[in-house]
Amino acid sequence: MTQSTNQLPGTFVTFEGVDGSGKSVQTEALAESLRNQGYSVLTSREPGGTPVAEQIRRILLDPQMGSMAWSTEVLLYLASRAEHVASVLRSALEQGEIVICDRFLDSTLAYQVFGRDGGDGDLVSALQAIRRANELSTGGIGPELTFLLDLDPTEGLARIRDAERTPDRLEGEGLAFLQRVRAGFLQLAEEESERIVLVDGARPPFEIAEEVLSITLTHLRRK
Ligand code: TMP
Repeated sequence: MTQSTNQLPGTFVTFEGVDGSGKSVQTEALAESLRNQGYSVLTSREPGGTPVAEQIRRILLDPQMGSMAWSTEVLLYLASRAEHVASVLRSALEQGEIVICDRFLDSTLAYQVFGRDGGDGDLVSALQAIRRANELSTGGIGPELTFLLDLDPTEGLARIRDAERTPDRLEGEGLAFLQRVRAGFLQLAEEESERIVLVDGARPPFEIAEEVLSITLTHLRRK
């Protein structure tokens, strides 16, 4: 199933990948390069991006919260997204800005469906349920270009350890969980190969940044 593409004048780009794959670095690198070329760029992240959504993020990522019902987890991610779209993303896209977001719906599908093995049901029903609920949360706004930074989660977790950062609630789910998430992302990339660009996240960050910039500029020229 194809995710809705935004029909607004702006351009919506996302970065996706397992934890530690370098999305935040690439989000900022792409934004800086595009700004240097005169584009108006907004960067954001999910969950989060507004005061309400950042509070939801705290609940979702706090390791002390432990486990929660599958539907609670899904709906909190979608509630954060609803707030983010309604108060930040929609108006930026209406004004013609380039919006670069660190994670969006693909993360919900990869983590809550593939990572959680379909949650309360099978994979197909979980994918359908989340895509439907996501329509409510976004009103159909979704990225037109997505970079999937593919990385072995063992390497991602090692990077998090090297940065001496305490793993958040989802990272604490362990390697097998993140391997299912990675496989989920790869499946989504195969299904939506026109939108999702697969990038080898193990390459040096400057090389990735060059490739990402070149693909984004080509996309912008074609619009
Ligand atoms: P971050 O640390 O990359 O900002 O992401 C926050 C965590 O939330 C990360 O472990 C991935 C997870 N996540 C989901 O499980 N579902 C989602 O829909 C999103 C956006 C993030």
